[in-house]
Amino acid sequence: MTDELLLEIAARYGTPTYVYDLDIVTDRVARLRSAFKNAEIRYAVKANSNGALLRHLAAAGVGAEALTAGELERSLRAGFDPSRIVFGGPGHTPALASRAAGAGIALVSLDSVGAWDVWQGVSAPATRFLVRLNPGFDPHTHEHLATAAASSKFGEPYAVARALGKRVAASGRLAGFHVHAGSMIDDPGVADLIVGALEPLYDEFPGLELVDLGGGYAVPNPPLEHFSAAYQSFAAKYRVSVVLEPGRFVVADAGTLLTRVLHVKESERRHVIVDGGMADLLRPALYGARHPIRLVGSGGVAEGGTPTDVDGPLCENADRLGQDVELPSVKAGDLLAVGRAGAYGFAMASNYVSSLRPAEVTVMAGEVSLARRREEPADLWRLEI
Ligand code: LLP
Repeated sequence: MTDELLLEIAARYGTPTYVYDLDIVTDRVARLRSAFKNAEIRYAVKANSNGALLRHLAAAGVGAEALTAGELERSLRAGFDPSRIVFGGPGHTPALASRAAGAGIALVSLDSVGAWDVWQGVSAPATRFLVRLNPGFDPHTHEHLATAAASSKFGEPYAVARALGKRVAASGRLAGFHVHAGSMIDDPGVADLIVGALEPLYDEFPGLELVDLGGGYAVPNPPLEHFSAAYQSFAAKYRVSVVLEPGRFVVADAGTLLTRVLHVKESERRHVIVDGGMADLLRPALYGARHPIRLVGSGGVAEGGTPTDVDGPLCENADRLGQDVELPSVKAGDLLAVGRAGAYGFAMASNYVSSLRPAEVTVMAGEVSLARRREEPADLWRLEI
């Protein structure tokens, strides 16, 4: 997207605003399909559940990975084929399981023995199951994102997963096993750890139909070829088809958060106070994540000297979009673009401090559309009795 277009979007829809370039989303799907030949891509809806984006992905023939009632309903509404939705997550209730079964969800990932107990109480004759393994290794990512860690709540350890697999297999409904090792993974060795953890299970359960290898690819440049080589040899060895659940890789690079400079304060550090903050993009505050930030409409070079923070308008120190950011000199009214914000950006936005969640805009082939309007004060109390 050109700076001219970003300036025009900010002028038209205000700031802060998320802009999603759907052509980049299309490109990322194509890159996944070409790297992982024969694998089925089921987009992890949690990364960004905007309806326009979901419809775009459903129309591209991608499946979905969902875990809450909300994600399930959004996915169905956006047109994902229920037979291509994998329904997982650590908290299944009888009501949720009944709804998923009733909607025709064909594949469910059991995170625990308790989840199987719930599903046994539900009429779901057409549903097949994966058992999620906790492989108990370090996937070399932020501790909040390391779901493979033995200490994490996800999946069951090997012996329990095996025993649960036997119970599900006895019902004739075991499709395979599932590992999602974590998120923002850029260590190629993790692919080998994942398949290595699954091999003993596939040795012991011959004739399984598929394997779900999760998502987790880091942006901007994950080692997709290495993951693909490890996964393809596993699939060939056990003659299983592969399901993948990428979220971030599909949407992160496509998203930009536009935010406007309100004030510049000079002290020990330079504080550039902008109109977007932790309520709009939580990742810097929660994970210390670094997103590229640049001044829109300027070829200016970064100013050395005073360290610069880009801070939000709220009332705590964590309310920050970037620390030690390299920016040219900026003034009130300038527009900043926070990059790589398409994944877990709006998805984790909140109304903290009664902030109004940003507008979301899509761009496809140069055409700009408002996908979700900015919240207004009345939205804050709309549900209060
Ligand atoms: N499958 C399962 C079972 C997952 O739990 C997740 C992400 C994914 C797939 C997709 O992972 P991805 O390809 O997007 O890395 N809020 C955090 C990310 C949390 C990811 C949770 N699970 C962040 O902003 O970095």
